[in-house]
Amino acid sequence: MILTVGNTKGGVGKTTLAINITIARALSGSDVLLVDGDEQHTAITFTELRNSLLGKTGYTAVSLHGAALRTQVRQLSSKYADIVIDVGGRNTGSLRAALTVTDVLLVPVQPRSFDIWAVDQVVALIQEAREINPTMRAVAMLNAADAQGNDNKGALDALRDIESIELLEFSIGRRKAFPNAASAGRAVIEQSPKDPKAIEELTAILNAIYS
Ligand SMILES: Nc1ncnc2c1ncn2[C@@H]1O[C@H](COP(=O)(O)OP(=O)(O)OP(=O)(O)O)[C@@H](O)[C@H]1O
Ligand SMILES: [Mg+2]
Repeated sequence: MILTVGNTKGGVGKTTLAINITIARALSGSDVLLVDGDEQHTAITFTELRNSLLGKTGYTAVSLHGAALRTQVRQLSSKYADIVIDVGGRNTGSLRAALTVTDVLLVPVQPRSFDIWAVDQVVALIQEAREINPTMRAVAMLNAADAQGNDNKGALDALRDIESIELLEFSIGRRKAFPNAASAGRAVIEQSPKDPKAIEELTAILNAIYS
């Protein structure tokens, strides 16, 4: 399955989710290809850090952009059963390319109004992509959600109203375990001390996407 983690909004947790999903899939026995479609190369930088700290990564990572992302991912999909694509938050060129080949688009959204408004742009891209890729599944979820307050409910209500995107009722909270694990070259499921809540939330998202 090809999964793209994408949003035109920056800093919503795309790379964090992409690397955590990649490592979780790899640990469950899949041969995973992580495609870094962001010119900032954050996923590649993370992978290099992981390799230098742990001596191995457990997955293959490549950097691909624009039209090459589309053609190469098409080619590589016969070699890898599991492909995870991380795209950047600004340039939509690689996001557009990814949407033409992906099976699932996961849209992380932070429960703040600017982030919710930006989803309209993603909806337009999804509609455009479905003309070429009509079976693409698009799912949204809250990431870095507040522990309490009304913002989460407001954001979920706004997302539920969007027809072209399915809303996952599972959210990931704002948890220090994510940046902590990333700076150690790890996913939250590998990090000790363990954060059971972060692991539980990530597992719920994985089950919703891969079941
Ligand atoms: N659930 C979370 N809890 C706490 N911090 C998080 C969470 N998700 C992401 N972050 C942090 O938020 C910051 C931005 O995350 P990340 O780089 O994954 O976003 P991005 O969408 O890939 O950004 P860009 O658009 O620049 O590619 C990072 O410091 C990351 O550690
Ligand atoms: Mg990123």
